[in-house]
Amino acid sequence: MEAIWIQGGSRLEGSIPIHGAKNSALKLMAAALLTDQPCRLDNVPDIRDVRMMVQILEGLGAQVRREGDTLFIEARELGVEAPPEPVREMRAGIQVMGPVVARRGRIRIFQPGGCSLGPRPIDFHLRGLEAMGARVREEYGFIIVEAEHLQGTDIYLDFPSVGATENLMMAAVLAEGTTVIHNAAREPEIGDVERFLNQCGARVNGSGTGVIRVEGVPAVQGTSYQVMPDRIEAATFLVVAAAAGADLTLRPAPVVHLEAVLAKLSQIGVDWESPDPSTLRVRSRGAMREMYRPVHVRALPYPGFPTDVQPQITALLTLARGTSIVSDEVHSARFGYADELRRMGAQIWVDGRTAVIKGGSHLTGARVTAGDLRGGAALIVAALAAEGESLIEGVQHIDRGYAKLEERLQQAGAKIRRLEV
Ligand code: EPU
Repeated sequence: MEAIWIQGGSRLEGSIPIHGAKNSALKLMAAALLTDQPCRLDNVPDIRDVRMMVQILEGLGAQVRREGDTLFIEARELGVEAPPEPVREMRAGIQVMGPVVARRGRIRIFQPGGCSLGPRPIDFHLRGLEAMGARVREEYGFIIVEAEHLQGTDIYLDFPSVGATENLMMAAVLAEGTTVIHNAAREPEIGDVERFLNQCGARVNGSGTGVIRVEGVPAVQGTSYQVMPDRIEAATFLVVAAAAGADLTLRPAPVVHLEAVLAKLSQIGVDWESPDPSTLRVRSRGAMREMYRPVHVRALPYPGFPTDVQPQITALLTLARGTSIVSDEVHSARFGYADELRRMGAQIWVDGRTAVIKGGSHLTGARVTAGDLRGGAALIVAALAAEGESLIEGVQHIDRGYAKLEERLQQAGAKIRRLEV
């Protein structure tokens, strides 16, 4: 079994490259199934979730080839049975539902289960497809969606779900007439999907506004597209730099999409600057870290503070001088990592969706386990700031979303290695 070993306390210097966005790349890969023509995606991160999505696309009959950071996808033939294993492992697998139903009129796909962030149903996805005329039934743990043709309509989401917005947007591309998604999620990755679809010949607009309008077209073509930089990865390294003591530059950083995170870091007292729209520089040293102020963080749908940075900022707040409150209004159970941070000396109390963090802890290295991707990132933040050695197990969760993590941190001066334990 692999683990990440970290000797905390090293100062980080230099620059860290930011890879393409996981949560955009996975959806663009699914969107490529809408056409029988070849698509090319550049800047695709080499992470475990992308490899699982490749398996799903191949299981559906698409040809997928990776050359460096580029993926070539061609779904000349498209099946209707999604392979169960990778869908069971990765919730984002359900994003193929919209495109496959749009193109083939049917899909049979494994029902994705709950996960360590709390129950994560897909009722909005299914209700939206039903509103467009599809029939949905469940059989032996599989969901079957059927529709001779999808009909554009008005859809209202009870919560601005990222996945439901994207799935319904992709389904609507080949529907008859106009679909309007109300209370749509506004995450920037949805804009990436919109731009990709429009480059293929779709007619989608409104991403970022909360109301997305899709005028159906009979068919779409292949295209080449570059995945946007990962704002969550950039935010993770920002927090790492603030916690560890650093003079670190991040590039290409989507500064415009990091407003909520940067505002919170300023409030905490982190010294950062953005010399241009795709560069961020963070400087922190020991004495400054002791002066970090406690804050109140509410993780909300975009443009609120991202839930995917909630664990990392909680780890940083264990260093602040005073008591912070962090709540997560997107996922109902995203504080599983708090027990592990406590092993490192953090003082955190969790009640449902809220954590209270008594700062000023002297973190010390420990043997801990990552239970999910961003919880694992929080452990990395804490271990880099802690005194002594840490061993982080559950690395497969971290590998879902961060490629070459140890290499990039090592190059900046961190003492971090992957071990077989
Ligand atoms: N929800 C429902 N019913 C649905 C869909 C969602 O109740 O049909 C609930 C969920 O249970 C959750 C909330 O709505 O409580 C938000 O879920 P959403 O659908 O927005 O999340 P998602 O599409 O499943 C994506 C990201 C997550 C990120 C969330 C929120 C991908 C592949 N995943 O998930 O990323 O936390 O949006 O921003 O895009 C991560 O990268 O670590 C990660 C978990």
